[in-house]
Amino acid sequence: MSLPEVRVFPDPEHLVAALADALCAEAEADIRARGSFHLVLAGGNTPRELYRALAARGAGDAHWVVWYGDERCVAADHPERNSVMAEMAWLAASRIPPINRHAIPAECGARDAADAYSKRLEGVGDFDLVLLGMGEDGHTASLFPGQAWGETADSADALAVHDSPKPPPERVSLSAARLNRSRRVWFLVGGASKREAMRRWRDGERLPVGAIHARTETLVWLDRAAAP
Ligand code: 6PG
Repeated sequence: MSLPEVRVFPDPEHLVAALADALCAEAEADIRARGSFHLVLAGGNTPRELYRALAARGAGDAHWVVWYGDERCVAADHPERNSVMAEMAWLAASRIPPINRHAIPAECGARDAADAYSKRLEGVGDFDLVLLGMGEDGHTASLFPGQAWGETADSADALAVHDSPKPPPERVSLSAARLNRSRRVWFLVGGASKREAMRRWRDGERLPVGAIHARTETLVWLDRAAAP
């Protein structure tokens, strides 16, 4: 469970600028190579500035297909929804058509939402790039310590989470196995509150973040305040 490659930046502003540029370059290369760019978005607060930076770059068009690593089971227009945050910060103003923006269904409860999302993912190959955050306990997406992370090959693509320690309790999360069916995974981690979890990850403790290994590249984009 050792740390993947870590890129440390002096502050969130430098990190977001470098990450937005690298993401746009990655999208261009993948679209040239395969005609599309399947991107999984991280939830929580940290990615908001990245999504705003992508909006400022006019990032996204009909070749982009957007998924979510996890979602909170609250109303579809609830400000706490990860998809509402991403739509407001970037997607609604982008040239990515709504049909390519796959929000996780919210209204039907975690079990039915997870089943519906797994079905929507049937036939979808490896993601090109997965963006993930990390919580102070080392969780990622909605995969939490002490719970099932769906690491085995026969795991469902999307898991229902009924007792999340991070509110709200009801969530849907891509499984570790589905997150790992990706060419690249980039973690975006910032703030002194994450330093302890980074130290535990570095020291090899078994954490959800450590269960994520992309096929080509797993990278941590870190602001110095969170460096262990
Ligand atoms: C969520 C996220 C979660 C998040 C981390 C970090 O729905 O809450 O998917 O995994 O990425 O908890 O959250 P912050 O970026 O707000 O610290």
